Amino acid sequence: MIREAILTTLNADNSVHIAPMGVREIDNQILIAPFKPSTTLDNIKCNGQAVVNLTDDVRIFAGCLTGHYDWPTVPASVITGQRLENTLSHLELEVRKFDDDKHRPKFFCEIRHQKIHRPFMGFNRAQAAVLELAILVSRLPMLPQEKIDTEIKYLEIALEKTAGKDEIEAWGWLMDRISEYRLQQAASENMV
Ligand SMILES: Cc1cc2nc3c(=O)[nH]c(=O)nc-3n(C[C@H](O)[C@H](O)[C@H](O)COP(=O)(O)O)c2cc1C
Repeated sequence: MIREAILTTLNADNSVHIAPMGVREIDNQILIAPFKPSTTLDNIKCNGQAVVNLTDDVRIFAGCLTGHYDWPTVPASVITGQRLENTLSHLELEVRKFDDDKHRPKFFCEIRHQKIHRPFMGFNRAQAAVLELAILVSRLPMLPQEKIDTEIKYLEIALEKTAGKDEIEAWGWLMDRISEYRLQQAASENMV
């Protein structure tokens, strides 16, 4: 099973890089598989460490794809890294094996430390809808416009019925990004 998480890694200047990424647990290890190119990939390759943050704040998923990066972090407990301050739980990882690949290398990581900070309050359909829209936004150049419009129409049902203010804000950032992307596409087509 893949869990959608927020990875925090350290850049060369020790600033924190925050990115959404799917992670898998295999035989007590965590598998991280970033597509090339990726800052997360470069950072983990460089220092062999990462933090997996499991959060229900979907603004962070949407924010990382739309230029809202200002999420508070605090030092990790046993590795040299940072975790999200308001995460539900986090896992501190150290790489044990690296399988390189032209497109999608794999890091197999030992869980050095894990902690639960707040309870999981249950599933919410609008949060799932924001995650799905975030995935679509991360693939905008690869997907036909009609597919995106059809999916938005369906996902909007859950948003309208079940969202709180964080989900509505996150959804708005993603919809703005789609509009900007389409304007840029139209402008570049007009220039040809
Ligand atoms: C829910 C979600 C899951 C994602 N999972 C992955 C993943 O497993 N691998 C990956 O390379 N990108 C994934 N992405 C896309 C990255 O977050 C995005 O491309 C980001 O820019 C990562 O690149 P970076 O490390 O350079 O920041 C995911 C995006 C979302 C919204």
